[in-house]
Amino acid sequence: MKPDLIETSAIGAGAPGVDAKDTPNPGPQSTILYLEGVTVTFDGIKALNNINLLIYEGELRCVIGPNGAGKTTMMDVITGKTKPDSGRVILGKDLDLLRLDEPRIASSGVGRKFQKPTVFERHPVWENLELAMTTERKWYRCLHSKLTSETRDRIEQTLHLTGLMPVAFRAAGQLSHGEKQRLEIGMLLMQRPRVLLLDEPAAGMSDRETEQLAELVESLRSTCSMVVVEHDMDFVARLAGERGRVTVMAEGSVLMEGTLEQIKKDETVIASYLGR
Ligand SMILES: Nc1ncnc2c1ncn2[C@@H]1O[C@H](COP(=O)(O)OP(=O)(O)O)[C@@H](O)[C@H]1O
Ligand SMILES: [Mg+2]
Repeated sequence: MKPDLIETSAIGAGAPGVDAKDTPNPGPQSTILYLEGVTVTFDGIKALNNINLLIYEGELRCVIGPNGAGKTTMMDVITGKTKPDSGRVILGKDLDLLRLDEPRIASSGVGRKFQKPTVFERHPVWENLELAMTTERKWYRCLHSKLTSETRDRIEQTLHLTGLMPVAFRAAGQLSHGEKQRLEIGMLLMQRPRVLLLDEPAAGMSDRETEQLAELVESLRSTCSMVVVEHDMDFVARLAGERGRVTVMAEGSVLMEGTLEQIKKDETVIASYLGR
């Protein structure tokens, strides 16, 4: 797919975690997701307050912030579950997501994972993956008859990627919490998302499960852009590394953006979140 391009100069900010001295002539960066001035009001309270956010193509952006900061609401707006009072939400170069309903946004390449896994419990793991691409499969079936081997390859790839090959034939209902979470990510991958939104994916997981999840998320870097909301700071540190950009949200806005090191030193962030 040809990447959509937006000149970064038009919307400010340089590339995530890239110093100008490292890349003398980085050229235009493509933007995968762009929120501008988004406000959502619930019962007179602003869950999102004129928030701006820009995610680059291929970026893995971690978002942190206290409970009630509006992180989930932001994902609800991107996926079309909640329509904002005002603002713009753009996918890629110019796809206006506010004009689309939830299914259309999903089929445009926005994959969203909720905290609680939603898998087909009675179906084997591999079949969950097959079901996840049903719409696309029907479409392909009209065009090609050789689909079966293509589907099989995709399922196999995803089983490898998610580390679920050993349990491929087990009913999804029998998986551990961590395995279910990875299966759900696998199901999203079957739809070839351009951007994946993960809301507190490590919640309720054991250390080992969190480790496996981090490995999976890291292995997806080259596959799609990702926005990961997470409280587990070790998990965030691992995903962000030294140069990854982390967004701190508070009271419906972006409080700060920077590397984890910059954020940890920031007085405002310490006062409102980290220091609590
Ligand atoms: N459907 C809703 N109805 C009313 N208030 C809501 C609704 N969803 C979220 N809120 C409120 O919006 C604010 C932001 O919530 P949320 O986006 O869930 O925060 P976070 O995910 O950062 O913890 C909170 O004050 C919350 O109570
Ligand atoms: Mg939340």
